[in-house]
Amino acid sequence: MADGEYKPGLEGVPATRSNISFVDGQAGILEYRGIPIQELTAHSTFLETAYLLIFGELPKQSDLHSFEQAIRGHRRVKYRIRDMIKSFPESGHPMDALQTCVAGLGLFYPLQEMDPNYVFGTVTRLLSKLPTMVAMFHQMRQGNDPIPPDDSLDHSANFLYMLSGKKPDPWLARIFDTCLILHAEHTVNASTFALLVSASTLANPYSTLATAVGTLSGLLHGGANQEVMMMLRQIGSVENVRSFIEDKLAKKQRIMGLGHRVYKVKDPRAITLQRIAEELFERYGRDKYYDIAVEIERVCEELLGPKGIYPNVDFYSGLVYAKLGIPEDLFTPVFAIARAAGWLAHWREQLSDNRLFRPTQVYTGERHQRYIPLAERG
Ligand code: ACO
Repeated sequence: MADGEYKPGLEGVPATRSNISFVDGQAGILEYRGIPIQELTAHSTFLETAYLLIFGELPKQSDLHSFEQAIRGHRRVKYRIRDMIKSFPESGHPMDALQTCVAGLGLFYPLQEMDPNYVFGTVTRLLSKLPTMVAMFHQMRQGNDPIPPDDSLDHSANFLYMLSGKKPDPWLARIFDTCLILHAEHTVNASTFALLVSASTLANPYSTLATAVGTLSGLLHGGANQEVMMMLRQIGSVENVRSFIEDKLAKKQRIMGLGHRVYKVKDPRAITLQRIAEELFERYGRDKYYDIAVEIERVCEELLGPKGIYPNVDFYSGLVYAKLGIPEDLFTPVFAIARAAGWLAHWREQLSDNRLFRPTQVYTGERHQRYIPLAERG
């Protein structure tokens, strides 16, 4: 790339150095701190993986225990946050509610020196309170009182409990935990890049995370998982798939849940999520939307495969979440609950060797123009 060459969307432009995660988009490889994602989904838990991402190594048993205990201890939110959530419009999107809540936490926890205690307190607080605030908004928008966290349940089971009021089947809670691992981190994606820019200004970590939440909400990024479910419903049957896809492509529209800036093969996370969806359907009954999704993948492999467009992480995740009883507009907040781990890892990494992000631009406007007084403008 020539010096100063403009690359739309910064494609291929390294924005940072990082040792948090690695992606090979041609081979379909994703590793967290060098460990393949499949190893982590098979053996780890979301909180252990979060620790790995944030602190750079798998925790010793005592460190994991302290981390989990600290997160459990932060589950409750201040009554003023609860009052704030009560004042939100019930029809507002939960991602907007979450972004507001995360920024709101900054009012209570002012920025401090980056010492290990501050970092530990901040990361455990945020990992813990995001699920509570998502579930709280969901209950309160229905006119219910929030369901208090259950300290006997682990991180994932407790979130499902706060959403539904029922203690989940441990097998389902484990599936949900695996989904959180799969969504926890993914190099310098759009929301992480937004977070890096904010972190580099030394903004408080709550503002910084709120920036990332807002960025994740977009349809081309984390918002695609909700859009996929809407598309599956709109298509309605396997027979309608081909004509739907052909029509969209003829109009130069995007098929949601397909394509990725980095992956030119099927996203390894989509492979695991599809396997999870199949396991779920085997136990709890097949879903016609799954058959529609499989047919979309087949038709798109034929029509878009030559361009390197295959299912991404958002393609099968909604089917899994729907089967777990998670409402559709909470799919992206669930993504945020998981991605908080990666965001916090990048926040910490950025501040360990910080330089303000301040890129340049290629100016394409006029110069040396005269100010025309209002009366002369016609
Ligand atoms: N459906 C149809 N065509 C597509 C799709 C798609 N989903 N994705 C890319 N293309 C086509 C484009 O039309 C373009 O075709 P052309 O060269 O003939 O004009 C070509 O592929 C390249 O497209 P770009 O927009 O340059 O690719 P980019 O790397 O910017 O796009 C993106 C990546 C934004 C994710 C895109 O694939 C997309 O819009 N996908 C749908 C939304 C989605 O699923 N987002 C979630 C991504 S994963 C995540 O963020 C968690």
